[in-house]
Amino acid sequence: MKLNWADIPKPIIALSPMADMTDSAFCRTIKDVVAQVDERLTEEQKVQMNGIGQPIVFREMVSSQAIVRGNNKTLNMTDIHPAERPLVQQIFGSDPDVMAVSAKIIMETHAPEGIDINMGCPVYKLVHDFNGAALMKEPELASEMVRKVKAAVDVPVSVKIRAGWDNPKQCLEFSKILEQAGADLITVHARTKKQGYAGASDWDLIKEMKAGVSIPVLANGDIHTSLLTFISLEQTKADGVLIARGALGNPWIFSQIKEILAGLEPTPTTMQERVRVIKKHLDYHIELYGEGGIKTFRKHLVWYLRGIPGIKPFKIKLHTSDSKQVVHEGLQDILDADLEGLSSRDATHPDAAERTHMTK
Ligand SMILES: Cc1cc2nc3c(=O)[nH]c(=O)nc-3n(C[C@H](O)[C@H](O)[C@H](O)COP(=O)(O)O)c2cc1C
Repeated sequence: MKLNWADIPKPIIALSPMADMTDSAFCRTIKDVVAQVDERLTEEQKVQMNGIGQPIVFREMVSSQAIVRGNNKTLNMTDIHPAERPLVQQIFGSDPDVMAVSAKIIMETHAPEGIDINMGCPVYKLVHDFNGAALMKEPELASEMVRKVKAAVDVPVSVKIRAGWDNPKQCLEFSKILEQAGADLITVHARTKKQGYAGASDWDLIKEMKAGVSIPVLANGDIHTSLLTFISLEQTKADGVLIARGALGNPWIFSQIKEILAGLEPTPTTMQERVRVIKKHLDYHIELYGEGGIKTFRKHLVWYLRGIPGIKPFKIKLHTSDSKQVVHEGLQDILDADLEGLSSRDATHPDAAERTHMTK
């Protein structure tokens, strides 16, 4: 599929890049869960939907330096399973030439449908070297980067930014500079770098930024349930959303969005469904990382079991599990306990339309 941000059906629904989380296994899990909605649609409804609500996944950032240095581990992180497409690969770095070469290498090796440039990451490891959000303080360098990456690839190039470094209004001017440089789409996480994850993502600011550019804009930050997706779209008038923490342990956020877009009632996520998907995700995770991957799957388990009443006693076994069998046993214990299993992030939960602060 060829990706064209301006022409694809709106609203654009996408998974936000998250380091150590949005790998191939998780992206496949999301696509699987959403594919189930299609089974509920009639042929006529499918034609009417015309691709609306089909999520686009943004893979976690990779270092342009590492790609150009020939680090195979990093390049392997950009491998794509066919089920994940369309997919956008995010890259980070401070040198426009290195960024351009890395984008070209990734294109030639795995051919993602789009490239995204990280200009929003606040962590010191990146920003001390004019990477990530620090690029917002260097508009000329940022522009050059967009121009050079665009020239190196024949797929759309998007940029993910923050509201600003310390001034939240900075994105208003910066987004115009990126548009002039040729960016095809901008996502804004409407908190400053200085804020980190504190306070709320300023959805009114996104509306203001969107009004100032003619390329598509995706809203990001605090879109933690399917209902909040529609509330944020209404408030920001953005072309779509990029969902991060709301998707962790909750791939159903995307199936529920698709159901709502199709005019269906969102299906509540039962405990049986939760367990079925955790097992499938675990299989994909092991396929990617081997049996040793069980330990790195624990971070996903933490998210899958978040906000479920009565779950606490079952967590210890799962969070210390070191084999697939132990995970399966722990999940069976949960099923045997007959918990209702409705998470606070489910569309049918009474608080699903409320904005809440989520820790990172
Ligand atoms: C664990 C984690 C890893 C992240 N890694 C990235 C990343 O690789 N690239 C990026 O642009 N943003 C990254 N982010 C930021 C998110 O993409 C998103 O902008 C932020 O979490 C706000 O959205 P949310 O409220 O929906 O979580 C990360 C966030 C989290 C929680």
